Amino acid sequence: MAGFDLEWTMKDAESIKLNQDRIDELLRFSGLPRDWFRGKKALDIGCGVGRLTWALQQLGAEVDSFDISQVAVERTKRVNPNAYIFDLMDLKENRAYDFVVSWGVIHHTENPRLAFTRVASQVKAGGYLLVMIYHRGTQWRYEKGRKLWPDLSHEQRLAYCRQHAERFGGNLQEWWDAFSPRYNWSFLPSEVVRWFAEEGFGSLVMTDRFSVNIRGTYGGHPRNTSGLPSFLLLRDLYWLSRLWVRHKLGRGE
Ligand SMILES: C[S@@+](CC[C@H](N)C(=O)[O-])C[C@H]1O[C@@H](n2cnc3c(N)ncnc32)[C@H](O)[C@@H]1O
Repeated sequence: MAGFDLEWTMKDAESIKLNQDRIDELLRFSGLPRDWFRGKKALDIGCGVGRLTWALQQLGAEVDSFDISQVAVERTKRVNPNAYIFDLMDLKENRAYDFVVSWGVIHHTENPRLAFTRVASQVKAGGYLLVMIYHRGTQWRYEKGRKLWPDLSHEQRLAYCRQHAERFGGNLQEWWDAFSPRYNWSFLPSEVVRWFAEEGFGSLVMTDRFSVNIRGTYGGHPRNTSGLPSFLLLRDLYWLSRLWVRHKLGRGE
């Protein structure tokens, strides 16, 4: 067993409780009002153990879910019979969904830009796409662990993740997720904003600071009236300057 299958069999993955917190997370990530979801057709791409699938269902959406990990899909099937094993890179254009979410997935693929195109191709005109992608400015905490990872035994990996959970919070599964995937790309908000524009999305809303968490509308207004792009550029500069200072000071974790 390897990769995400192993991650989702960890005891800590069981601690992802399906409760009001999951619904609040979805509302916070998406920036949409709870009433919006009722009767909508949604797709959860890289659904993991189904926490967002479940939240979407509770808000009244009809949900399809898939993941490349068999263990993840078995867990999601507990809440959604419409869960199946699939590689998002094999998606063909199918503009059938009002709401597509791919949270924490695209940066784990070999080619994130192409993955974004595949994911975006499922959204119908006027529908929403929500993605969460690692922010280049916040990945320094994981860099050392990702370099060490290949040389650690399974037991050493578990111990390393436990230490981090105790020191910085979170649980073992979350730290495993940060260190173990083969690909851990990260981007600046302005790069992802450009991807949205290139795929025909507008009316962008950014709902988080730690990650690049952006919602866009397919066929939405291409020019943002919110002033978001210039704001993002300023934020990029801020994060790049922080990285530069860290580099100069030689600070690891
Ligand atoms: C960090 S987890 C996020 C899970 C879920 N979206 C959530 O927010 O709880 C990343 C998930 O992406 C899945 N994944 C990675 N590459 C994939 C691909 N090419 N196609 C489908 N799923 C993929 C993994 O198996 C894993 O379950």
